[in-house]
Amino acid sequence: MNKTIQKAYRLEGSVVLPGDKSISQRAILLNSISDGPAHISNLCVGDDRTSILTCMRGLSVEITEHSNCNVSGAKECFLVNGRGLNGLTEPSEVLNAGNSGTASRLVTGLLSGQSFFSTITGDESLRARPMKRIVQPLSQMGAQINGRDNGNLLPLSITGGNLEGIRFKQPVPSAQVKSSLLVAGLYAEGSTYIIQPSLSRDHTELMLKAMGANIQVNGLEIEIQKSNLNPVDISVPGDISSSAFWLVAGCIHPNAKILIKSVGINPTRSGILEIIMAMGGRLTIQNERIEQSELVADISAESSSLEATEISGDIIPRIIDELPILAVAASQAKGTTVVKDATELRVKESDRISATVSGLRQLGADIQEKPDGMIINGDNVLTGNSVKSYGDHRIAMSMAIAGLISEGKTVISGAESAAISYPLFWDTIDSISSSL
Ligand code: S3P
Repeated sequence: MNKTIQKAYRLEGSVVLPGDKSISQRAILLNSISDGPAHISNLCVGDDRTSILTCMRGLSVEITEHSNCNVSGAKECFLVNGRGLNGLTEPSEVLNAGNSGTASRLVTGLLSGQSFFSTITGDESLRARPMKRIVQPLSQMGAQINGRDNGNLLPLSITGGNLEGIRFKQPVPSAQVKSSLLVAGLYAEGSTYIIQPSLSRDHTELMLKAMGANIQVNGLEIEIQKSNLNPVDISVPGDISSSAFWLVAGCIHPNAKILIKSVGINPTRSGILEIIMAMGGRLTIQNERIEQSELVADISAESSSLEATEISGDIIPRIIDELPILAVAASQAKGTTVVKDATELRVKESDRISATVSGLRQLGADIQEKPDGMIINGDNVLTGNSVKSYGDHRIAMSMAIAGLISEGKTVISGAESAAISYPLFWDTIDSISSSL
């Protein structure tokens, strides 16, 4: 599907976000192995939601849409009937994680704790993404895992059970790897220790704590022991990674004010706010509150004069999904923005370094590709052109936001991929933008 974006005269309005994808997937998976029913409201939408639901239903968990919701203020939610730590049953079919790296890694951690046989696969993009990063430590814990490319690529077949805790020093920060091992650690004899090189999103740790798991977090080190989980009702906050498109749009457009309600601003995810503000972006953060262990706020973004910055080091895992849209922001900032230490971007839904560089270059940006990042000489006048999504939702949406400030028309091919995380993205663009 092609989408055409016109240069907008004004961006104005209030945006409702989809539920956070990372929190949603954890809420479904962890409640599925808890000791009872739980209600989850504002679950993420899109194909990644289908991925986690399909996997958990394939393991015999009953998950239904429900209109009589326990979560205050919510009209509709999902009811997950937790089957307890050892209540899953052998799937009769191959589990399909679709496009979702998070679902594939977390579910593989879960399957490693089960004594039955299972196979998990994904779509073409996911089948090309590295799995050794979880297969190696999960095998060390005692799971038998086989897969293509010597266990590095999906499909993976798993026979788990009889796990033993290990001490695992993560070579690169990754919340997916950490969470996969934490889930496996719920089934292991003894303690499982994970030592992170720097902080990545900690939704799994927070949710496990809220569910009564035996988990301790000590700086960068996490220890988990075998635990039964209590079900928890969860109202999922808006996805900060989806909000990033509107935050940047509001700041780079010369005639804009966008309000975004109920955004999750967990400090391990809010690097985007710090960077935009360090660049001089006019963000106003209001109504900060805690909702079920997660920090939430309303944020508005207004036309700003941005300055270049350096994005590197420990902040990278806290903004990993926002780097393509930050590159769009950098193309409008005065000076040279350098993005370093972001090699992980090359193994996401697409190679996001090369996809971002080629898309922004098509629109006339002065941007160079580096092995671990990019260099953007800002203050560019962008001109509409044809650009590709590379089948990657975040690239499609980043190009659309660049299109709002590009002269003329920008045509994005493969635009349907936005539905992986944000099916209403194109409607929202229409609702906030006006042309002359
Ligand atoms: C996610 C973690 C990140 C992120 C992904 C979602 C998660 O991946 O890119 O979109 O939910 O844990 P890594 O932790 O592997 O970098």
